[in-house]
Amino acid sequence: MNQRFAPADADSLPLILVPEGELPALLPEAAAWVAAQEFTGKLGQICVLPGPGGAPSGALFGMGTARARARGRFHLARAADALPEGTWHLEGTLDPAEASEAALGWLLAGYRFARYKSAPAPRARLKCPPGVDADRLEMIAAGEALTRDLINTPARDMGPDELQAAMADLAQAQGASLSVTMGGDLETGFPMIAAVGAASPRAPRLLDLRWGTTGPRLTLVGKGVCFDTGGLDLKPSSSMGLMKKDMGGAATVLGLARMIMGLGLPLRLRVLVPAVENAVSGAAMRPGDVLPSRKGLTVEVNNTDAEGRLVLADALALADEEAPDLLICMATLTGAARVALGPDVVPFYTDDTALAESLTRAGQAVADPLWRMPFWAPYETLIEPAIADLDNAPSGGMAGSITAALFLRRFVTDAPRFAHFDIYGWQPTAAPGRPKGGVGQAARALLEALPGVLKL
Ligand code: BES
Ligand code: MG
Ligand code: ZN
Repeated sequence: MNQRFAPADADSLPLILVPEGELPALLPEAAAWVAAQEFTGKLGQICVLPGPGGAPSGALFGMGTARARARGRFHLARAADALPEGTWHLEGTLDPAEASEAALGWLLAGYRFARYKSAPAPRARLKCPPGVDADRLEMIAAGEALTRDLINTPARDMGPDELQAAMADLAQAQGASLSVTMGGDLETGFPMIAAVGAASPRAPRLLDLRWGTTGPRLTLVGKGVCFDTGGLDLKPSSSMGLMKKDMGGAATVLGLARMIMGLGLPLRLRVLVPAVENAVSGAAMRPGDVLPSRKGLTVEVNNTDAEGRLVLADALALADEEAPDLLICMATLTGAARVALGPDVVPFYTDDTALAESLTRAGQAVADPLWRMPFWAPYETLIEPAIADLDNAPSGGMAGSITAALFLRRFVTDAPRFAHFDIYGWQPTAAPGRPKGGVGQAARALLEALPGVLKL
């Protein structure tokens, strides 16, 4: 891992940003070298310039056209991997948002998941561009690395116990407190969390972290399904293969919590993670079972694979009891969200239009794309079954992400502002700054929006 900037006073080589077709004036030998490499400034092209003794004297990086850049994010991250060892600084025109994205992309490219085999980090280092807040970006990169590590770790090594240990480590490092509810207290206080986790020998629990003593209350709830087999409604193997990432909501809220605490935001933070394994055994909840819930609503389990909304509902009900100023839910909740928007864009739901606009704008500003979806009230009937208050899995599967969101909203009645993010948490193919594997989504957008939304 190499996710820090080089010291501001280090000697460094120029990395010259070249828009397509706009080559800078160079000495004749350098110009011949660049021409021979066929460097034209196409997006992502890199040309290292030889100095008098043969050592690099700098490099050119192709910025392409505005249209090409719009087809991705963090383009400069490619340079972090490709450049030779050394310290580099940027030369060229970037507005403050572009400079910040370039610098963050570089740090994000320094992430490695090295738990099971060594993975050398890039050896080129960047000096943080002037006007960019280096400490803030390093904190963001550290939070994102935590999210990625938690998601990437296979379920064998990341069960409810290990997720609890990771949350305890974070709490200890940041001076936060952690309380854990398990066993009989879980069964009485959080019956749906207990029911979803009942089939696994790895005991279900509710993890509750608190930090900060003054300021507005922000509560983050993250889905912590450490592995989702589907339960008795077993997933086919093609769908089960990636389900170590079903604690991606928990991983993402913990990464965000790390950013918030590390930056010392003036607020009272609470993080709730229902940590369970959705397994198969004689103790498993059954299709057709009706579960009681913390809120008092009864829920008919029409599909044991719609487990995320069950565990989240009990956690949201607890969160709602103290009516936090802002209540955020993050979950790898539905396959339907992916069908609708793909892996890159995160659908989110809120009734608060001002909040939605702040989040969307913040997402654009920090290259963390979000898209508002509707809490479409006419679909409420789809989640109302015959013999209980709610149905966890309407038949037909129409509007699957919306009906899941509507289900969650039933458990939030007192918090003045609620937003739910149906994240994917996974980068299916490597992209600049994002290797294939676990990835944080919507955390940076939230961090950016919080000061305005909570008037910090
Ligand atoms: N964890 C899955 C959703 C998921 C699947 C997220 C693939 C990302 C990628 C969730 O628990 C689930 O299985 N949802 C079902 C709900 C259905 C049974 C109503 C789904 O989306 O198919
Ligand atoms: Mg499921
Ligand atoms: Zn799930």
